[in-house]
Parts: sequence; structure tokens; C-alpha cells
Amino acid sequence: MKIAVLKEEAAGEARVAATPETVRKFIALGATVAVEAGAGAGASIADDGYAAAGAAVGDRVATLAAADIVLAVQGPAPDGLAGVASGAWVVATLAPFASRARIDGYAAAGFEALAMEFMPRITRAQSMDVLSSQSNLAGYKAVLDAAAEYGRAFPMMMTAAGTISAARVFVMGVGVAGLQAIATARRLGAQVSATDVRSATREQIESLGAKAVFVEDVAGIEGEGSGGYATEMSDAYKARQAELVSAHIAKQDIVITTALIPGRPAPRLVSDAQVATMRPGSVIVDLAVEAGGNVEGAVAGEVAVRHGVRIVGHRNVPSRLAADASALYARNLYNFLSAFWDKDAGRPVLADGDEIGDAVRLTRGGAVVHPRLLG
Ligand code: NAI
Repeated sequence: MKIAVLKEEAAGEARVAATPETVRKFIALGATVAVEAGAGAGASIADDGYAAAGAAVGDRVATLAAADIVLAVQGPAPDGLAGVASGAWVVATLAPFASRARIDGYAAAGFEALAMEFMPRITRAQSMDVLSSQSNLAGYKAVLDAAAEYGRAFPMMMTAAGTISAARVFVMGVGVAGLQAIATARRLGAQVSATDVRSATREQIESLGAKAVFVEDVAGIEGEGSGGYATEMSDAYKARQAELVSAHIAKQDIVITTALIPGRPAPRLVSDAQVATMRPGSVIVDLAVEAGGNVEGAVAGEVAVRHGVRIVGHRNVPSRLAADASALYARNLYNFLSAFWDKDAGRPVLADGDEIGDAVRLTRGGAVVHPRLLG
């Protein structure tokens, strides 16, 4: 049973799918582990660290030769996986909708592609949930990125030269990233408010010491779809939300947006006209920029300036904290594979009908099999 850990191919991807800690644990399960030289460099893990943990560190060809499981952060190009055993697992975040040709490529090569972002939101899978582990770090980093772009301080300061008032931070979308953004902004001393479409978040916002800003008076809203995710809202709701945001946003110094709807473009929450009402020098961080953006004028990979407001659109924010993001991602993968480890077979086995296996498996036996990718 050989596990191969690849050096990431995508530009700007600094994370790695295994750490010396998880290499040791895989070896303790009876696997052998090969790591492509330089795989950990972006996450400050030297090849020596992997070697000391028991991995064979080598070039890509040696790493992939006869591998049974390939671990990566982003899906590797199928034609770069020569030498991997047929039927091998490719375990990564595979962007199943955006990278459909690649998924077809895994099927054609006979690989079983397992998309970690399809991990179901059930208690048993919490420790395997890469979206949560990475979003949490992104929410934290979004606040630090905002602070770095902001020409003022976050906390209230009373000094001999006068008083500086606390920054007002508004968090839009209170899932995993939003909750961490609230907590981080509070720790920096900001005055924090937040909104979401899911009413269950109100209590979470208040328990973190922030003010909840909610649409109250539209009939038929709940905002919660399946699996704890948001749904697309009605036009009446959107109109009411826009009014509410307009009234609130003009008084904010920092806005952090994190709103996502699975399988759809990110909802537009802030218009250019609303940006124009903010004080010059204000900062917006759009964590949904790669999913189409919550903020009009946000540009992926850039800090755009509109009406004197800086709109931060960094790509791949977890990769900006590559060491911690890798440590958590690597543990997510270990938790997943070890939970299904069959001692007799000496490898993980995903039985048909298992809720987790069925949710993450995209391809098998030469075909795309995931219902969300069929028809
Ligand atoms: P997400 O990344 O899909 O979306 C971020 C937030 O944006 C969500 O809170 C969503 O309600 C909100 N949003 C969507 N449209 C909006 C709009 N038009 N206006 C304002 N806000 C909007 O969500 P994430 O972070 O993945 O979490 C979703 C839920 O899943 C949370 O309740 C979280 O606690 C839960 N969860 C459960 C897990 C488990 O049970 N294993 C693991 C991880 C999360």
C-alpha cells in the first residue's frame, strides 16, 4: 500500500497534503509513503522532515511509481499521473464543477477520484472536513489582511495625544469563516456586527460579543437549505437585505464578506453604489471573490480601489497561511483514510452505501459516478 504525496502544480498554491506528522501515522498503519521533493517547501517543511518521518523523498516519477493513493491539495492533472496503479485513489479538493475535464480524465485513467470538498456535514465527518479547516483560517486571515490595508488602528486607544476610536467591522456571511472573522476582529478590539440569511447564526454572532444585523420582516424566509448550507433567497428578501445593508454599511470601516451558496455563484451583497457610501480609506475583503464575488468591483488576485475604498480580492486565502492550513488539511486526509482503514486488506476500503464514500466518490471503474456530475 503506497501513498504518494505530490508537490502542488497550481500557481500560488503553497500548501501540501501531508506533513511529517501524518506521514508517521500512515506508516504506523502499515503504508509506505513517498513524497515528491520540495512538496513541503511552501509550508516550511523541508524534505529532511519527511525523510525523518520515514517517507521516501524523490522525484515525481519515483514518487508516483505504483502508488495506490495519491494525495494532493488541488487536483493533479491526470496526464501527469503516469505510473500510478490503475484503480488508485486520487484524494484532493477536485473542484468537480469547475474542473470537469480533469474529472473525466481521472475516469479515463481508471482512477477513483475522491473530492474532499464533497465531505458531508455530519458529525462523523467533522474531523475530515477540509472546507471547515481551511475556511476557519481564511476567516482569520481576512481580518489580518483588512488590518494591513487599513490606514487606521483597530482598537480604541486613549493616548496623551488624543483618543482613537475603535474600527467598525461588519461581517457578511457567518459560516465557519465568518465566525472566525468575528472572533478575530473582536480580539483586535474592533466593534463588530454581522449578518447572515440563516437565522440560526444570530445566537452565534451574539455569543461572540458582536451585534446581529438581520432582515426581520419578510415572509417565508429561513435561509437554511440542506446540510446547514444557505439557499438562494427570494427577490423580496434580497431587496430588504439591500436596504438594510445600505443603511449599515456607510457607517462601517471594514467589511468582510464570506457568503457562499453551494453549486451556485456567490450572492452579490454589496453594490458599487453602497461601496461609494463608505468613508475613503475603508477596506472590504471579499473572501468569495473566486466564486464570483459578494462585492461589485472585487477582482480576484487584486486589491482594487473604488471610491477611495480598498477592495481586497486575494485568491486562495488558506494558502496565505500555508503551514497551518497544510497541517489541518493533512490531518483531515489522515482522519478520512484512517477511519476507513481495513487492517486485513492493509488499505482503506470505502464500502458501497457508506454516506461518506458515496458523497466524495466522483469516478470509479472508468466512469464518472457522482450523481451531481451526471445528467
Ligand atoms: P458557506 O461557506 O457555504 O457560506 C458562508 C456563509 O454565507 C453561510 O453562513 C451562509 O448562510 C451565508 N450566506 C449565504 N448567502 C448569503 C446571503 N445572501 N446573505 C448573507 N449570508 C449568506 O458556509 P460554511 O461556512 O461552509 O457553513 C455552513 C454551515 O455548515 C454552518 O452552519 C456551519 O456551522 C455548518 N457546518 C457543519 C459541519 C458539520 O456538522 N460537520 C461542518 C462545517 C460546517
